[in-house]
Amino acid sequence: MMSNAVAPATEGPDRSVPLHVAIIMDGNGRWAASRGLPRAEGHRRGVEALRRVVRAAHELGVQYLTIFSFSSENWSRPATEIGDLFGLLRRFIRNDLASLHRDGVRVRVIGEREGLEPDICTLLNEAEELTKANTKLNLVVAFNYGSRQEIANAAQRLAREVAEGKRDPASIDADALGQYLDAPDIPDPDLIIRTSGEQRLSNFLMWQAAYSELVFVPIHWPDFDKAALESAIAEYARRERRFGGLAAKTGS
Ligand code: IPE
Ligand code: IPE
Ligand code: MG
Repeated sequence: MMSNAVAPATEGPDRSVPLHVAIIMDGNGRWAASRGLPRAEGHRRGVEALRRVVRAAHELGVQYLTIFSFSSENWSRPATEIGDLFGLLRRFIRNDLASLHRDGVRVRVIGEREGLEPDICTLLNEAEELTKANTKLNLVVAFNYGSRQEIANAAQRLAREVAEGKRDPASIDADALGQYLDAPDIPDPDLIIRTSGEQRLSNFLMWQAAYSELVFVPIHWPDFDKAALESAIAEYARRERRFGGLAAKTGS
């Protein structure tokens, strides 16, 4: 550590801040239940946490922030809760899009659009279109997203190209498949944070998480704030990423 205080030029810029942080925002329901409040109130407070964390991520120098806001499997919840979650997304985009745009945030959306109500699709498209030239922070919203579905869709597109005689099956490798995922230009997450104490991915970015550092935080999402993000990033900075290679030599 000490002899490496100045990183060699070949190691590039400061790596203590992850370029891409992805968050599984979990625990809204338990946060509410523990206070005797309806689950919907937990989700509403979760949106407030999201606003804080978008700001904090930018202040800390994160360039890509991906948030898991509705999974392909969340359709198995009661219709009223699904309605609450969709209502919050609508309100978030309607109320916050202008200020996100003013702050230079570029909004991207990953996940399945098919099956979503047309007004939601319109809002998601508007958010992407309005902010597409912004360069401050990329906010990637995983909505109606499931990693298995994303990978299966990519496989289907490759298979179609083979069937149409446009592709040699031998050309299908990890890079080729990666190009057909929802946002191929976005670098893999360096750090994935899950709140609420659960320790699983729940079908989130399973391809992209191959070498992500995972940090599980015991607090529920509505309580997450800048300090919690800073401490997850500090934990990340203590990790040694090896990508299958050997530990970096210290002091030589
Ligand atoms: C996260 O909180 C929000 C979504 C999954 C949409 P939960 O609603 O999963 O809250 P818990 O896990 O039941 O506490
Ligand atoms: C993951 O949380 C999905 C989102 C945060 C949007 P869940 O609460 O749906 O995950 P499980 O069911 O506990 O695995
Ligand atoms: Mg949950």
